[in-house]
Amino acid sequence: MSVLDDSVAAIRDLQPHKVVVFTGAGVSADSGVPTFRGPQGLWRSYRSEDLATPEAFARDPKLVWQWYEWRRGLIREAQPNAAHRSIAQLATAVVITQNVDNLHARGGSRDIVELHGNIFRVRCTREGTITVADEPFASLPPHCACGALLRPDIVWFGEMLPEEAVERASAAIIGADILLIIGTSGVVYPAAGLVALHRGLSIEINPEASALASACTYAIPSRAAEATPQIINAILEGQR
Ligand code: OAD
Repeated sequence: MSVLDDSVAAIRDLQPHKVVVFTGAGVSADSGVPTFRGPQGLWRSYRSEDLATPEAFARDPKLVWQWYEWRRGLIREAQPNAAHRSIAQLATAVVITQNVDNLHARGGSRDIVELHGNIFRVRCTREGTITVADEPFASLPPHCACGALLRPDIVWFGEMLPEEAVERASAAIIGADILLIIGTSGVVYPAAGLVALHRGLSIEINPEASALASACTYAIPSRAAEATPQIINAILEGQR
């Protein structure tokens, strides 16, 4: 039996109803969105950790915005994949994502906790006002009508996660019958630490075992778009 078979058997035994899905960049890799770490994660030889910081933005806002405009362009063209779409079939699941790409929402999920913000929103660096900005900017870096710089409404390294998102995520994970961890390296805290709140069946889907794999009941070494629909189908069967 494969790990996938074992996982499906465990789901059939448990028949979980409260489902929490915790995702990272790997769930969108099958949509063509590059992940952050590994060889695909580089942009013009910069590492994401060197661009997604308040210091990098203070030093060179144009460079940081060029990187985000590149990612925004890729994400705009990308489509939700079979993993996003199958997760959305679980009408009552809570999706906790580190991703800022909006692909879970476009895939049809309703209850989404965005731990790291959203790349299609901007925040005024003076007033703190948050607005939706999904079209390309005429020039970079973009400015608010008040004259101050706009920044992506994204949590950067060294910044706090939104308190309300952490509270909702924690409560959902504590109350979950099953936790699916899909496409994250599990090395960025505090987000990765939230999964430790779960007691019970946990299943990772990631072609390479993540830092969280050893704490999971099962770690399925597959791509998200391949294994997620099968796992979700097994959960849906038990809910019928
Ligand atoms: P990473 O780039 O650190 O990790 C991506 C994970 O996805 C790796 O474990 C890969 O093995 C896995 N992966 C690759 N292709 C996959 C596929 N087709 N299916 C499933 N998994 C696949 O991305 P995150 O863990 O999301 O922060 O990184 C966490 C945070 O660090 C991000 O939210 C971002 C980044 O800096 C912010 O934007 C604030």
